[in-house]
Amino acid sequence: MIKILYISISGNTRSFIKRLIDYAEAQQEKDTEAPRVLAVEIDDNTLPALEEAPYFAFVPTYLEGGNGVDNGDQEILTESLREYLAYKDNATRCLGVVGSGNKNFNRQYCLTAKQYAQAFDVPFLADYELRGTTSDITRVYDILKGIVLA
Ligand SMILES: Cc1cc2nc3c(=O)[nH]c(=O)nc-3n(C[C@H](O)[C@H](O)[C@H](O)COP(=O)(O)O)c2cc1C
Repeated sequence: MIKILYISISGNTRSFIKRLIDYAEAQQEKDTEAPRVLAVEIDDNTLPALEEAPYFAFVPTYLEGGNGVDNGDQEILTESLREYLAYKDNATRCLGVVGSGNKNFNRQYCLTAKQYAQAFDVPFLADYELRGTTSDITRVYDILKGIVLA
């Protein structure tokens, strides 16, 4: 089982996760070893809870300040996921972070996921743009599968 905690403000990450779940189901039908995906959306109304099992975190990038391209790196909108990861020892069960964003933001592309990786001392596993392509889904699934089956 691949467990994912994610946050999505405008729906792109939600779309990616939904397609990842569908892809995992299709893989499972061909190969019973292929792990399914269980995803939980975190939002501002989510109460902090202890995560007992290993999971991955998916976070899009929203930054405020500066010009949005090469300065200003204050996280906005996604802090409820950060707070959830920071709750008690939840971060110790995080197997890694997958980031998304828009390459127009240049050096700030996927910066929030990189900041999480640093803050929580977990690996930055992969990135994709916006809703992600079909090949992003396959690539990310294979990375997560490799970790949970290792
Ligand atoms: C106000 C705003 C700021 C953003 N800042 C960044 C950024 O600094 N870096 C980046 O890679 N993408 C940035 N993005 C792009 C989003 O991360 C991207 O659209 C993402 O797919 C949104 O995911 P969601 O629809 O799941 O919320 C920004 C988007 C908005 C609307």
